[in-house]
Amino acid sequence: MNVRSQGKAPEAPSSSLGASRGGESLTITSVDKTFGGKREVTALKEVSLAVAPGEFLSIIGPSGCGKSTLLQIVAGLMMPSHGKVFLGANDVTGESAHMVYLFQQYSKSLLPWMTVEENVMFAFNHRLHLRKKAARDRCSEYLEMVGLDDFGKYYPWQLSGGMQQRVAIARALSSEPKVLLMDEPFSSVDALTRMELHALVQELWERKRFTALLVTHDVDEAIFLADRVAVLTHRPATISEIVGVDLSRPRRPVEVHENPRFLEMRHHLLNHLLRKPEQSDEPPV
Ligand SMILES: Nc1ncnc2c1ncn2[C@@H]1O[C@H](COP(=O)(O)OP(=O)(O)OP(=O)(O)O)[C@@H](O)[C@H]1O
Ligand SMILES: [Mg+2]
Repeated sequence: MNVRSQGKAPEAPSSSLGASRGGESLTITSVDKTFGGKREVTALKEVSLAVAPGEFLSIIGPSGCGKSTLLQIVAGLMMPSHGKVFLGANDVTGESAHMVYLFQQYSKSLLPWMTVEENVMFAFNHRLHLRKKAARDRCSEYLEMVGLDDFGKYYPWQLSGGMQQRVAIARALSSEPKVLLMDEPFSSVDALTRMELHALVQELWERKRFTALLVTHDVDEAIFLADRVAVLTHRPATISEIVGVDLSRPRRPVEVHENPRFLEMRHHLLNHLLRKPEQSDEPPV
């Protein structure tokens, strides 16, 4: 298994990712984040990461270690105390216009007074200023991709949780982002729906090859979707390990979950996450 440790200059893999189409490289350099207030909290310490164009990178780590903080800094929704974020060669630290963020709570991210179609079009209309017909065509294309082409005129509250999350995915992708950031986007749906959404996201990613960063607590999900999995330490979070996922694609949920390589990586990552901060490193597998 390809395991890299923190401390080296971040370098994204290139050879296996030559198929990049829509994605852009993302580089995080020496990011620190300390929150002020009564008690100072240092959430991130010297986090450096390079994500190749069109790569799918999962980020896992203990609860409260700083995963969402890192994603919000990458998204430009929060300034780091130190360090920078680059999209390609451009410094985008603190700029929020470049990436699309898919949240955990679809019910909060979809606008309840808009139909499914209006929700999707809302995501790109203000950016792209398409003519009505072109906007409708793009909307239909993405609703069809997530299997909801018959539900355009419905309101979000008339759909199941899994369907609403599919609308949120269609909406996020319809603006054809170069980078898609996801913070536990599947944690509020049931286990079967989650697997269906994994397969859907994998298929859409294969088609569009946006660069993807997924924060999750779910080790299976992290491995299933990713080219690499980055593991954060307890707070202040830094990257303790990066594991390359050498499973062929397309990946099918049932087969992958029984694959010995998958089980080996799962074992290694779970052990890593469950050990106490003071416990010494398990050797890489
Ligand atoms: N706006 C804020 N102001 C002050 N402290 C904050 C703020 N946002 C996050 N923190 C603190 O930073 C630390 C990391 O929080 P963060 O939400 O990034 O963790 P996380 O890894 O996403 O946790 P979880 O896995 O539970 O979602 C926590 O101690 C949290 O209290
Ligand atoms: Mg979080």
